[in-house]
Amino acid sequence: MTVTVSPPVRTESAARAADLWKVYGSGEAQVVALRGVSTEIEAGRFTAIMGPSGSGKSTLMHCLAGLDTATRGEVFIGSTKLTGLNDKGLTKLRREQVGFIFQQFNLLPTLSAKENILLPLAIAGRKPDEGWFDTVISTVGLGDRLGHRPSQLSGGQQQRVACARALVARPGVIFADEPTGNLDSRSGAEVLSFLRRSVREFGQTIVMVTHDPTAASYADRVLFLADGQIVNELTDPTPQTVLDAMQKLDPGHGPAAAAQDQDEERN
Ligand SMILES: Nc1ncnc2c1ncn2[C@@H]1O[C@H](COP(=O)(O)OP(=O)(O)OP(=O)(O)O)[C@@H](O)[C@H]1O
Ligand SMILES: [Mg+2]
Repeated sequence: MTVTVSPPVRTESAARAADLWKVYGSGEAQVVALRGVSTEIEAGRFTAIMGPSGSGKSTLMHCLAGLDTATRGEVFIGSTKLTGLNDKGLTKLRREQVGFIFQQFNLLPTLSAKENILLPLAIAGRKPDEGWFDTVISTVGLGDRLGHRPSQLSGGQQQRVACARALVARPGVIFADEPTGNLDSRSGAEVLSFLRRSVREFGQTIVMVTHDPTAASYADRVLFLADGQIVNELTDPTPQTVLDAMQKLDPGHGPAAAAQDQDEERN
């Protein structure tokens, strides 16, 4: 009799950190920003990274994205090990497999929205897939703004251009550092809905750093960093469960602490 053993179910990983350490500076000026972080970013999911200011969120994202190098430990994008790649290899990997969305949009002021969106592909010498380009443009709702320069667009529209620019190349993973940090809540919600749609409908993998519990609630999973370590995680978060988790890890900064401060001032 033959027995068939099914392989273990395993989610494909889009990026991975294994015992990742990052130390800046040396001697008295030394800062340990990451202390042995191990985590896996699953493909086709929306992951948020939260934590107090200075907890290492941006550092983790930059190391995962190959924008900064690990002091110790290993980082993978898909099956490629970043630690060990030279600068040329890293640049190629970033260009071909990683997309970025920044708080400050980072659009080129002299280029139109369309030219900005197509720039990464142009640099990589790749032709855009026209059907896909149209899908991305209609999803972000920029159809009538493609000829405009960034200065002629609102902040929300500029960030939607940046999202389209990240998405049009269909990278293995998009990293977004506080993508709604400069937007009012309505434009922020539009950008977040769009990011979530690109995960649900197009299978895009997104990793987003945010301070905002509502923004994090758009994700499938939230990782909490404190003092350079992952200390908690939530799946299917709501603004309230995220707020509760943040309150636990940084009791000095939540609304309860603020209320207590006021009480102390009064007394
Ligand atoms: N280039 C650098 N040189 C020295 N120290 C750095 C550098 N970049 C970050 N750090 C330090 O590493 C720690 C983590 O910084 P990081 O920017 O990752 O925090 P963060 O969680 O993104 O904070 P924020 O929410 O304020 O953006 C901090 O103590 C910071 O001062
Ligand atoms: Mg940061």
